[in-house]
Amino acid sequence: MNTGIQLLGILVVFCPVLISCWNLPRNDNYTYPELHLFEQKLDHFNPTVDTTFMQRYFVSNQYWKKGKGPIFFYTGNEGDITAFINNTGFIWDIAPVFQAMVVFAEHRYYGESKPYGDIQPSVNTTAQYGKLTAEQALADYAEIITELKEHLGYNSIPVVAFGGSYGGMLSAWMRIKYGHIVNGAIASSAPVKYFPGLTNCEKYNQVVTSDFASTAHGPQCVKNIKMAWSVINETVAQAGGLRKLSEIFHTCHQLKSAEELTDWIKDCWSNMAMVDYPYPANFLNPLPGWPVNVTCSYLSVPFEGSDLLKAMYEAVSVYNNYTGKTPCFDTTSAISSSISNSLWDYQWCTEMTMPFCADGVRDMFLPQKWSYENYVKNCKAKYGVIPRPHWAIVNFGAGNLKSASNIIFLNGDLDPWHVGGILEDVSQTVISIKMWGAAHHLDLRHGNKHDPISVIEARHTEMMHIKKWIAEASNIIA
Ligand SMILES: *[C@@H]1O[C@H](CO)[C@@H](O)[C@H](O)[C@H]1NC(C)=O
Ligand SMILES: *[C@@H]1O[C@H](CO)[C@@H](O)[C@H](O)[C@H]1NC(C)=O
Ligand SMILES: *[C@@H]1O[C@H](CO)[C@@H](O)[C@H](O)[C@H]1NC(C)=O
Ligand SMILES: *[C@@H]1O[C@H](CO)[C@@H](O)[C@H](O)[C@H]1NC(C)=O
Ligand SMILES: *[C@@H]1O[C@H](CO)[C@@H](O)[C@H](O)[C@H]1NC(C)=O
Ligand SMILES: *[C@@H]1O[C@H](CO)[C@@H](O)[C@H](O)[C@H]1NC(C)=O
Repeated sequence: MNTGIQLLGILVVFCPVLISCWNLPRNDNYTYPELHLFEQKLDHFNPTVDTTFMQRYFVSNQYWKKGKGPIFFYTGNEGDITAFINNTGFIWDIAPVFQAMVVFAEHRYYGESKPYGDIQPSVNTTAQYGKLTAEQALADYAEIITELKEHLGYNSIPVVAFGGSYGGMLSAWMRIKYGHIVNGAIASSAPVKYFPGLTNCEKYNQVVTSDFASTAHGPQCVKNIKMAWSVINETVAQAGGLRKLSEIFHTCHQLKSAEELTDWIKDCWSNMAMVDYPYPANFLNPLPGWPVNVTCSYLSVPFEGSDLLKAMYEAVSVYNNYTGKTPCFDTTSAISSSISNSLWDYQWCTEMTMPFCADGVRDMFLPQKWSYENYVKNCKAKYGVIPRPHWAIVNFGAGNLKSASNIIFLNGDLDPWHVGGILEDVSQTVISIKMWGAAHHLDLRHGNKHDPISVIEARHTEMMHIKKWIAEASNIIA
């Protein structure tokens, strides 16, 4: 392994020259990790509560070399953990190089790790949902890792946490809160600063807009998208307008308002910017390579009236019907069911206060102000909760990470979430890597010949640091 890694170091130095001949080999034929269940305490912070629930985690020993290899631990985020197992190819590509054990743990309340089954968060279930918090999830992961180490009879085994998006926030926070358990963290596209007062609420939608604007017919595409909002509005004002729109957009049920359609379309654009990968992928939805380019190809000439609406339908079909198998469009949900919308919305209403807004000038969206009062009112009405907008900042430090160590924050410029990320090095060991031409945590996917050079380089840097963290951990032991 050592010579391999040294060679790797040399390659990183000469990366710009050699990169085209050296991408990570894609490891496709790993055996699927094995399912385990962990009896987890429902409330880690209240000694009077004895209740437990069964939490899923998946383990692969395929590449693990006992006594030598580390644990690579994916800190599951807001969805079925198998979605992350299937979309985090980077870990599978490098597990053989590091002879690592691979563990994917499911976030409490998501997938099949639900303490209360299929009950949805609502005003009537606040008692059941009180334990859906990031700090409970981190404590879950700390318990699982500790138990794993004890079970292996090898307490000093180095552990590297991995995560993307909210999972990346969790991996960074794992290192911050449980530095004695996790030796380093890869935090990809983790918007740890996307909290009130730290990130301008307009920025996210500006990045989405610039992603669309920078495609081949971008300016016309953005013009059409902007104009469509008022054409939809005018259509609704006509007799039978909602029925006409429902027909044009093939909705599953008749639209109830213009907002139902405009909110849904807005979410499609926003999600597509996130997963604007250079090759076909299936993360939120099955999509072609560079889906934003493909979408804009339907909006590349000036349209008006119902022609514009029809073109919009073709354009949203890229995100919603690339497979050609979607019978109708469900305008009540923009995201696939494996990544949960409503539970994340609940988290957004409690600790994860991430403000969004638009001005319709520097972005292509309908103007929408961020109103803290409305946010609180809606959250209270929907879930019976009062948000704690500053708790995440107090609890995890947001961008104030000078006392942290061994974390890599990676961000892609096409990813609208990068605006809430760590974009400058904090110290020698808390570093920031910017990936040009990359969307949401592209580095965590399998190596691919269409990867931008920035991503190929980022992966090599990640590997060098992982190697260093493992060596450090081993030195502490020796
Ligand atoms: C896939 O698995 C086979 C058999 O275990 C092995 O010979 C081959 O090298 C593997 N390929 C990769 C890319 O890991
Ligand atoms: C991930 O892949 C496994 C194995 O192919 C499959 O059973 C599972 O349904 C996939 N998960 C998701 C969310 O697509
Ligand atoms: C909550 O419970 C009340 C009273 O039983 C009921 O009327 C209401 O529909 C419930 N709300 C939700 C969102 O389940
Ligand atoms: C849509 O119509 C409503 C009232 O019918 C109006 O308040 C709103 O400003 C209109 N929006 C656009 C973008 O035309
Ligand atoms: C598609 O878009 C990306 C990013 O905006 C750009 O780098 C790429 O060259 C485009 N590809 C094509 C075929 O237009
Ligand atoms: C999805 O595509 C298929 C094949 O082109 C088409 O028959 C179907 O109507 C489309 N679904 C929607 C909702 O437009």
